[in-house]
Amino acid sequence: MDSKADSAFMRQFAGVIAGFMVLTVALIFLARYIQPDPTGDANPSQGLMAEKRIAPVGSVRSGEAGAAALAEAQAAIADATPTGDVVVDGAQVYGGLCMTCHDSGVAGAPIKGSDLMKEREAAKGLDGLVASAISGINTMPARGGNPSLTDEQIQAAVEFMLQ
Ligand code: HEC
Repeated sequence: MDSKADSAFMRQFAGVIAGFMVLTVALIFLARYIQPDPTGDANPSQGLMAEKRIAPVGSVRSGEAGAAALAEAQAAIADATPTGDVVVDGAQVYGGLCMTCHDSGVAGAPIKGSDLMKEREAAKGLDGLVASAISGINTMPARGGNPSLTDEQIQAAVEFMLQ
């Protein structure tokens, strides 16, 4: 290779490198201009949320301090557990589940407030209707398909359906 071409290449190459260096510095300044303090705007609750996510699942409690902490935790759980009665609101139970079939008569379900509903009540009585709603009848699933509904909630929903 002849050295003229070599030095021409080196000059060009050095020029390109220098150009990139200038560009790098310019980009650094541009970035600082756009976002002067990248940590300043961070959501303050992000740290807390991260702490929560990485918090240990359990902890060992021993001795007197441990017993006190345990009693405190159990009291907190007892406070947070609802002890009151389950809400018995026929309209709410009906609106949350029964209406999916009983508003439009899916699969022959007697429509809320219809004559058919009243005929069935006349034939079986309220208790009979409640009993079949609890146990299920033909294509009607037991408790409308939600086994966690109480007898009282079913009864309230049936009463609401008869209105
Ligand atoms: C998946 C659809 C579906 C859901 C959800 C549903 N039902 Fe029904 N229900 C039916 C059908 C279908 C019948 C008619 C069954 C028959 O007589 O063949 C029926 C019948 C009834 C009857 C009349 C029973 C009888 O003895 O004649 C009552 C009362 C009733 N449902 C109450 C309820 C209540 C209360 C809920 C909500 C907790 C509910 N249903 C949710 C489909 C449904």
